[in-house]
Amino acid sequence: MDINEIKNLKGRRKITMLTAYDYPIAELVDRAGIDMILVGDSLANVVLGLDSTTKVGMPEMLHHAKAVRRAVKNALLIADMPYESYQLNPEDSVKNAKRFINEAGAQAVKLEWFERCLEVTEKITSEGIPVMGHIGLTPQTVDKIGGFKVQGKDAAAAQRLIEQAIELEKKGCFAIVLECVPDKISGLISSKIRIPTIGIGAGVHCDGQVLVIHDMLGLFSRYTPKFVKKYADLSPLITKAVEDFRNEVVQEKFPSEQYSFSIKEEEFKKLNGI
Ligand code: KIV
Repeated sequence: MDINEIKNLKGRRKITMLTAYDYPIAELVDRAGIDMILVGDSLANVVLGLDSTTKVGMPEMLHHAKAVRRAVKNALLIADMPYESYQLNPEDSVKNAKRFINEAGAQAVKLEWFERCLEVTEKITSEGIPVMGHIGLTPQTVDKIGGFKVQGKDAAAAQRLIEQAIELEKKGCFAIVLECVPDKISGLISSKIRIPTIGIGAGVHCDGQVLVIHDMLGLFSRYTPKFVKKYADLSPLITKAVEDFRNEVVQEKFPSEQYSFSIKEEEFKKLNGI
């Protein structure tokens, strides 16, 4: 998938996106035919056990983006720019975006809305780097938007989201994530811009949908937002497998002959007396 193929899907069929942070999961997601894979900064929460996405930086994001790149053959690969790389240091944003493209092999970067978002987006897109915007609930600046809450719930707030989306399109974004936005407002935004909207907790009227892979596979239980649908519940399966392993080792049932290597008896006999 390339940027134009993704843009051309708007109005034709819904676009699919999932996060991935490592080689084996990225390989499975790609093989299943997902259009876009995001190495999200949700890495902080669901993989690294941190309490805020602002706590991951360039080293962690590059490390995981490189692993995902090795697996992905078809999907468009997008790297999430971490807080420090463009919000804390806007003057370094182009340099950091280039690192995701040149070092990690990402095809695009994603930025969350913040007060200098339009300026930074323009700088990056003018260097020929595709940018995905992200408006609504923006976890990197959650303290500035009243917490983890649905955004755009009154007319004035919804109007601001519409304006942000229109401005991001003008600055060259190829798609925009809408997070935790009322479904009718997502529909309105989607109808007012020509680039695809990708929703998470933003209803059915978006041009596509994204979920965090650990949420939809039931691998993350610290909290589960209302918008998460668990398509599988892998945690009990993993716990059961680990318990079975533990019990079989303690009971000396594992490893049986099937999982062991042997030596010819005459060779073994030569060791008698050693
Ligand atoms: O980091 C992430 O996983 C994201 C998605 C929720 C869109 O930004």
